[in-house]
Amino acid sequence: MFALWRLGAFEVTWGPLETQPTKAGVERWRRRESVIREASRARGTCVASGSVSNPPSPPTTHTHPSASSVRAPLPCRHHRKRTYHDGVRGHGTRPRPERSVTWLSCDGCVSLEITALVSFREAVSHPMGFAPAAALLPLRLACPRRLADAGPMTFARSGDGAGLGKGGRMGSPQCPSSLPGNTGARHDHSVKRPGGDESGRSVNGAAPAPVPTKAPQRRQRRGPHDVEDEAWGLLRESVVNYCGSPVGTIAACDPNDASPLNYDQVFIRDFVPSGVAFLLKGEYEIVRNFILHTLQLQSWEKTMDCHSPGQGLMPASFKVRVIPLDGDDDATEEVLDPDFGEAAIGRVAPVDSGLWWIILLRAYGKCSGDLSVQERIDVQTGIKMIVKLCLADGFDMFPTLLVTDGSCMIDRRMGIHGHPLEIQALFYSALLCAREMLTPEDGSADLIRALNSRLIALSFHIREYYWLDKRKLNEIYRYKTEEYSYDAVNKFNIYPDQIPPWLVEWIPPKGGYFIGNLQPAHMDFRFFSLGNLWSIVSSLATSHQSNSVLDLVEAKWSDLVAEMPMKICYPALEDQEWKFITGSDPKNTPWSYHNGGSWPTLLWQLTVACIKMNRPEIAAKAVEVAEHRIANDKWPEYYDTKRARFIGKQSRLFQTWTIAGFLVAKQLLENPDKSRTLWNNEDEEILNALNLMTDASNLKGRRGRKGLKKTYIV
Ligand code: GLC
Repeated sequence: MFALWRLGAFEVTWGPLETQPTKAGVERWRRRESVIREASRARGTCVASGSVSNPPSPPTTHTHPSASSVRAPLPCRHHRKRTYHDGVRGHGTRPRPERSVTWLSCDGCVSLEITALVSFREAVSHPMGFAPAAALLPLRLACPRRLADAGPMTFARSGDGAGLGKGGRMGSPQCPSSLPGNTGARHDHSVKRPGGDESGRSVNGAAPAPVPTKAPQRRQRRGPHDVEDEAWGLLRESVVNYCGSPVGTIAACDPNDASPLNYDQVFIRDFVPSGVAFLLKGEYEIVRNFILHTLQLQSWEKTMDCHSPGQGLMPASFKVRVIPLDGDDDATEEVLDPDFGEAAIGRVAPVDSGLWWIILLRAYGKCSGDLSVQERIDVQTGIKMIVKLCLADGFDMFPTLLVTDGSCMIDRRMGIHGHPLEIQALFYSALLCAREMLTPEDGSADLIRALNSRLIALSFHIREYYWLDKRKLNEIYRYKTEEYSYDAVNKFNIYPDQIPPWLVEWIPPKGGYFIGNLQPAHMDFRFFSLGNLWSIVSSLATSHQSNSVLDLVEAKWSDLVAEMPMKICYPALEDQEWKFITGSDPKNTPWSYHNGGSWPTLLWQLTVACIKMNRPEIAAKAVEVAEHRIANDKWPEYYDTKRARFIGKQSRLFQTWTIAGFLVAKQLLENPDKSRTLWNNEDEEILNALNLMTDASNLKGRRGRKGLKKTYIV
């Protein structure tokens, strides 16, 4: 049973009230919480009060009074009332109802009145995150009829967090402009939601939506500034608080979405554009908190069927949950609940999370000038753990990172397992950022050495073997196969028949790109936008290659940008290929979602890449395309069809990284200089080493194996 609570200007959705709490569930939260505390202590961070050597980190738990005394007034006199008692707590002589909820309905609405505290245990076991809304938000409700009866509606929550202890509470409807560090324009709660949804949000600490009572025209034309203002309003509303401080942004905030799945969580990768938008605006606190809190999650116990992944793994996402405080039924605490892939669809480990974390950490230091965060011992340890995990020896012969399918932005089966470009570009970028931030100390010399040699091998490998243009395609077309020798030209034994027919027509005379993946006897010739754009941003690509990628984007504008920037990959897998490669995934049908869908969030990476190559006009054109429809379409997660004509079949609306990606692009186009904080310059040392390697590789070809020192295939 799902209850939809719709009260004119306010709407909360949640799942089955019958859900019984499990003792094991509660225990699990407690155990996790103590593990994180222990881990933090072991790493020299302070959970609650700060340590001697480090500045205090934000507390991980926070207690506040329960909302047990809240009583809501009857919405209107026409309502029929049905009281629902549920659950008996206590044993023997003193049983008492666990909760008492009154359902109210009239012909104007169906609503619900909380007349007693809803069990916090429910909060723990509830899959939909109902509890934060119901258990913690003291609400006074009203229905439209009551509004009509009684004049302007007031819905009161203990909204300003007063009386809730130090930090307010999860779901605190704090006005975003009151967030510490917010120097932006005051967020006006009368700002209209696009499309005029009469609703609010209550998930995961996101502030409830300020809502209009009257729906604005759906298709009204907005000026660029209106769109930007609206985007800022929405971005601020997506902010998630933990212990009263902003720690991230929720993935999607569609108030009409009854089944948000895990889109009510803070995704690490999704937060990056949000974080960058805030950094560019001079609002640093949320990014700092995000970095420090996610760092603590890195140490969590994480297992799937008794198997634990590597220690440096960062979660894909996390959620703020409220659980009962140990030993006190009337008090609660907030905990961060990460998902390392144990709950994710397909159970994929998010390899990109740690890489994005390092990239964002560097951007934080560059933008804010505050290097104290990256210099902290725990942060240094966190960087090293990620880098070590990535540099760990395995069976692989390639310097590229070997990963499973779905380990990055494309987090479903799409045939990108192996050495996908996106991961390689992020890996390269993260290694560069890490090297820049790691403080020299005893014991880190080996790590730096390993890191340096990987950087060199990786860039050689990608520049040399992933690059494709018309000339190279022709070379592959004429490849000899089955070459057994050290001087083979066709090192990976690629059969020319693999060249897909579409590519023969598609490859432009001017321009090129990095292919999606390279494995023995396998080249994935699809164009993947993020990997290509981030290769430019990170200087994994040479300057010539970077310009060629942008040439290709221009030449193939109607395929890659079309009516909404930008295709996640091109082209789509169709027919049998779709069947075999995606496993007949109904979400990834041709030209939808990850399979050739268009993702507006990619605008920001496109913009950084264009500005870096001194070609901002390309990004400006793409932003203009997006600006025409993105707000009217309610900021979709992705678009479908070959030319991105439709809002995606299962696309979320009010997707935060769509909003943030747009804002970052706008900010950077206004202040192109600021994008320096996001890109990596070509490293002279790597360049020199690459030149030497190219010479060595030529020599090696001539002299056979003698003199070969490298252990990587490069
Ligand atoms: C989808 C996307 C993933 C994103 C998540 C949350 O699963 O594939 O990249 O992080 O949604 O927005």
